[in-house]
Amino acid sequence: MTAYHINDILITPMELALRVDELAREIAAGGPSENLAVIGILRGSFIFLADLVRWFDHNGLRPRIDFMIMESYGKGTAPVREPVVTRDCSIDLTGADVVVVDDILDTGRTLQKAVAHLQAKGARSVRTCVLLDKPSRRVVPCQADYVGFAIDDHFVVGYGLDYAGYHRELPHIAKVTFTE
Ligand code: IMP
Ligand code: MG
Repeated sequence: MTAYHINDILITPMELALRVDELAREIAAGGPSENLAVIGILRGSFIFLADLVRWFDHNGLRPRIDFMIMESYGKGTAPVREPVVTRDCSIDLTGADVVVVDDILDTGRTLQKAVAHLQAKGARSVRTCVLLDKPSRRVVPCQADYVGFAIDDHFVVGYGLDYAGYHRELPHIAKVTFTE
């Protein structure tokens, strides 16, 4: 594997905690939530979603929570194919107000596909929430309704995000620097 280091912290645990709390309030203020279903895209969203929904009760939100697995990346940093749903969520979304949660919005392919998939399952509304957004990388038109942080075009890890399966456990977001 290419040599790299992850010494540069881009977003600290404290900055993450403060912003995630705000995002929960934005979601509560921002749309229909009577029949709320939060759907996380695995694997990258697992820490972000877990922290986000901890603020929901406080904001009067009572969601059902499920996950779906979408895959498009191989072992490197470049997409190897179109994203596909490899494990669907299993709750009934007919008439639901869905908030789909992902770790990062990059080319936009994953989120665009996820929204279409959830609409096809009968959701009444689908809103999108991502922790990170790399707007300069967009390939398909796709904007998230709720964005934690917009970042420049760096490959990042931590707080759920991986490089080749590693570093998801870091409590901060770190920049990956390739050294050769
Ligand atoms: P998109 O379909 O290109 O928008 O890519 C979204 C998916 O690519 C995310 O859910 C991540 O799994 C992965 N991804 C994109 N950029 C990064 C990154 O900087 N670090 C780790 N994963 C990334
Ligand atoms: Mg992902």
